[in-house]
Amino acid sequence: MKLGVVILAAGTGKRMRSDLPKVLHPLAGRPMLAHVVAAATRLGAARTVVVYGHGGEQVRAALADSACVWVEQAQQLGTGHAVLQALPQVQDMDRVLVLYGDVPLVDPDTLGRLIAASADCELGVLTALMDDPTGYGRIIRDATGRILRSVEQKDGTAEELAVQEVNTGFLVAERVRLDGWLKGLTNANAQGEYYLTDVIGMAVAAGERVASVHPLTLEEVSGVNDRVQLAVLERFHQRRLAEDLMRNGATLADPARIDIRGRLTTGRDVAIDINLICEGDVTFGDGVCIGPNCLIRDSILGDGVQVFANCVIEGAQIGAGARIGPFARLRPEARLAPDTHIGNFVEIKKATVGEGSKVNHLTYIGDADIGAGVNVGAGTITCNYDGANKFRTTIGDGAFIGSNASLVAPVTIGAGATIGAGSVISAEAPAGELTLTRARQTTIPGWQRPQKSPKPGAAE
Ligand code: UD1
Ligand code: CA
Repeated sequence: MKLGVVILAAGTGKRMRSDLPKVLHPLAGRPMLAHVVAAATRLGAARTVVVYGHGGEQVRAALADSACVWVEQAQQLGTGHAVLQALPQVQDMDRVLVLYGDVPLVDPDTLGRLIAASADCELGVLTALMDDPTGYGRIIRDATGRILRSVEQKDGTAEELAVQEVNTGFLVAERVRLDGWLKGLTNANAQGEYYLTDVIGMAVAAGERVASVHPLTLEEVSGVNDRVQLAVLERFHQRRLAEDLMRNGATLADPARIDIRGRLTTGRDVAIDINLICEGDVTFGDGVCIGPNCLIRDSILGDGVQVFANCVIEGAQIGAGARIGPFARLRPEARLAPDTHIGNFVEIKKATVGEGSKVNHLTYIGDADIGAGVNVGAGTITCNYDGANKFRTTIGDGAFIGSNASLVAPVTIGAGATIGAGSVISAEAPAGELTLTRARQTTIPGWQRPQKSPKPGAAE
């Protein structure tokens, strides 16, 4: 069975009050539309067609790396008209599934059930029971429970509007039948639109079989019209991600105070304090412990790594047993070997730090290769940039860099070398020796500090 997916995304999204097209507003760090495209991919769609309207260029650019086919619906004449525009792109498909670009939490498992339940039917619809169905299309059934048709809120009689089973809008149809039904649609209704939902009544009138399935949660079928609804779905989604982490062996101090915008993979017995934000692809090994208020993006933390409060970590690889922070910043290509210590107000960029080395206070290490067992004193700076070019600093195993040293790259500090505090090192410091640059300390005997002269007229 070849499945074509049509995603409707031509709506203007006025209620977002935004210059960004509605379907590009992010949920968990990704455009809503990207979530829907991902669901189609997980379902094994042979082709995904997105029907877009105004702002199309921006939408296409944002999803440039997905293999969608794009179809413009210049005028929004209704959901049926929108699917009709996509039909030429799915002529070689057996079935067509309709999704919505502004219903981001659609669950591939539910769609899979819908497709399975309608395997022997010409049409399958996803319907849901709602305490308050106001605004939705209602599913009208006969006395035996057979679906007859779907009625829009604005077209329904009082009796029809009392029905609590709603049409979610999601449907899967045999492609050949859908062609015929859509071409037969009229806009003779309260909104003057071509309703996709009218295909249900048309199928029944033609004696076709219509299957129906319910979603597991209402959030899966909830559309986003404004930023309040978007925030509700974001929290729902984050809660689920948090529960997945906990089921997988992570302890969260508060599952309501973690945000995952991408993918977080965790080992056993990971402990995460409040307000962690993870972006991109992040991996925590077994026993990783994260303090409060950290931002971690595209990084790999080995087993037993401890990150203390208020760290910002991006594009870093951290070896097992390392201790980071509080208040540390690891930037892209920071590569820390096992058992390293990176302390407060330390920034590390494009640098390797060898096993057991310590960079504990107020330091900038950029474009550097630091060996094992090195101690970098407080306030040390690699002066890696001359305003035009970047240069590397190399520090051998077991070196000891005194506090407040400036290492002017390109420069090499030999293994076991000691650098005196306050030195400016711009030439090679030999292995095993003490190297320092320091003005000699002098004392001026009997020197008097200047005195302020008394203000004229001031009282004695
Ligand atoms: C639609 C259904 C309704 C269902 C509800 C569920 C119809 C006629 N009604 O109503 O039965 O209960 O969804 O949320 O289908 N769109 C286009 N082009 C158009 C019109 C719409 O791409 O010409 C897109 C919109 O961007 C949106 C989706 O289709 O993503 C649904 O359109 P909308 O106008 O919101 O439909 P509803 O009136 O909510
Ligand atoms: Ca409408």
